[in-house]
Amino acid sequence: MSGILEGKRILITGVLMESSIAFHAAKLAQEQGAEIILTAFPRPSLTERIAKKLPKPVKVLSLDVSSEEDLAGIADQVREHLPTLDGIVHSIGFAPQDALGGNFLNTPWESVATAMNVSAFSLKSLTMALLPLMPDGGSVVGLTFDAQYAWPQYDWMGPAKAALESTNRYLARYLAERDIRCNLISAGPIGSMAAKSIPGFSDLADTWNHRSPLKWDLSDPEPAGRGIVALLSDWFPKTTGEIIHVDGGLHAIGA
Ligand SMILES: NC(=O)c1ccc[n+]([C@@H]2O[C@H](COP(=O)([O-])OP(=O)(O)OC[C@H]3O[C@@H](n4cnc5c(N)ncnc54)[C@H](O)[C@@H]3O)[C@@H](O)[C@H]2O)c1
Repeated sequence: MSGILEGKRILITGVLMESSIAFHAAKLAQEQGAEIILTAFPRPSLTERIAKKLPKPVKVLSLDVSSEEDLAGIADQVREHLPTLDGIVHSIGFAPQDALGGNFLNTPWESVATAMNVSAFSLKSLTMALLPLMPDGGSVVGLTFDAQYAWPQYDWMGPAKAALESTNRYLARYLAERDIRCNLISAGPIGSMAAKSIPGFSDLADTWNHRSPLKWDLSDPEPAGRGIVALLSDWFPKTTGEIIHVDGGLHAIGA
């Protein structure tokens, strides 16, 4: 039986460790028949080391989404390996330490601006940088942490994710005429590098042990990876501007 991404070419950002959600999206995408290319930050060497654990060899390109120079060159670099793309995975988040962990009321704008640029605006800048490679439409998938709520410790990543969620809807609006769908997976907590950099993250994550209707495993990024692959596939053909929760159902539970 052929995979649900057979014949598709996908660019995946955000593979840093085996705990990265993007690593699991990459693994599942290859298993489902996609040809993939990875981008890496801060160093390709880290990502190349982890990429050896993928089912098939993969090219890794360097990309800092906050660098205009990197963004300007990325389409040509991808073209050296893949002629076009059918999908993009944006699995990128960052906020400086003083924007996290209970410092919300004192965070300076410079730190907020960095969080917004890297975590939200980059969904637009990455997509636009790669647009020339998507002449026949495709699917853009990003990752959020439910921005409807003011979580403990998450601080300015909250407004950054709210901006990401809104950016996703505007991209869906503007790119629909090119047959490009734009959607997000709203993942429950996973013990990745990004999560561990948030002081008090384990307390926040513990909420899932008590309240998630479906049993939640903090150490398992695969469910989020499966959601990403589903949105990249042809099985959500008329879905755009959407946020699919892969959070054990916690978003639906009042008490
Ligand atoms: N871990 C969680 O609990 C959780 C929950 C919901 C959503 N998310 C989101 O999932 C996505 C992936 O995070 P993860 O949990 O897999 O952690 P991760 O640390 O493995 O991945 C974060 C990635 O962001 C990349 N990145 C940071 N700054 C960058 C820049 N300037 N340019 C390019 N890439 C940059 C890092 O290289 C890293 O690969 C993020 O958007 C994160 O906010 C994570």
